[in-house]
Amino acid sequence: MARRRAKFLVGLLIAAAVAAGAAARADGIDPHRLYEKRCARCHVPHGGRFVRDNLERRGGEIIGRASGDTVLELLEEGHGRLKPAEVPAMMAHLAAILDSGAVFQRHCVICHGRAVDLARRELIVRDGELYGRYSRRPVAIFLATHGRQETAETGILVRMLKRQLVTAE
Ligand code: HEC
Ligand code: HEC
Repeated sequence: MARRRAKFLVGLLIAAAVAAGAAARADGIDPHRLYEKRCARCHVPHGGRFVRDNLERRGGEIIGRASGDTVLELLEEGHGRLKPAEVPAMMAHLAAILDSGAVFQRHCVICHGRAVDLARRELIVRDGELYGRYSRRPVAIFLATHGRQETAETGILVRMLKRQLVTAE
């Protein structure tokens, strides 16, 4: 029994590591930097805030709330002056923020309020991993039995909470 549990935990750690690795894109574009370089001059400093305040999904598309414009079209038409190869990287980044926000909204917000507050009050990043600030528990493992999210969503949540700390000012 203990052995099965250990195996399960190792599997989880590998899944979390793979998920973290996926954040570094194969095309070598860092979308956080890209947002800071190309968008933050005119919009809020952090992409996460920008997405929460301004974007939503309608059908399969991500659209601007105020304009109703499709973000993909806006960027392809030259808004923000992205290079063609940077447009899909930016779209994937905005979508990831939007979707992780939705998972947190669905499973966690009722007890924890805003993700950014949970992260900054209760969590720390040490050697690239996310831990409880006081409990010292690895969050990826803690979430396996906490919060009732789907297993596949755990990596999304861990990455999102980590991002809240990494981008903290
Ligand atoms: C030179 C200033 C400037 C830059 C740089 C810029 N924007 Fe904008 N953006 C604006 C203005 C002005 C508007 C329209 C007014 C508004 O909606 O706030 C706008 C609107 C938008 C909208 C529509 C919002 C809505 O609610 O309909 C999106 C999406 C958007 N920008 C994304 C981006 C992204 C992503 C980048 C970086 C790649 C970027 N912008 C770079 C000035 C800029
Ligand atoms: C029913 C209420 C409830 C829900 C729903 C809930 N939590 Fe919690 N959470 C708590 C409480 C209470 C604690 C503090 C007690 C503890 O550490 O076990 C906590 C603690 C935590 C911690 C701190 C762990 C640590 O080691 O310090 C994290 C991270 C966390 N929750 C994340 C989440 C996430 C992500 C979700 C959604 C998938 C979620 N929680 C859903 C009530 C909840």
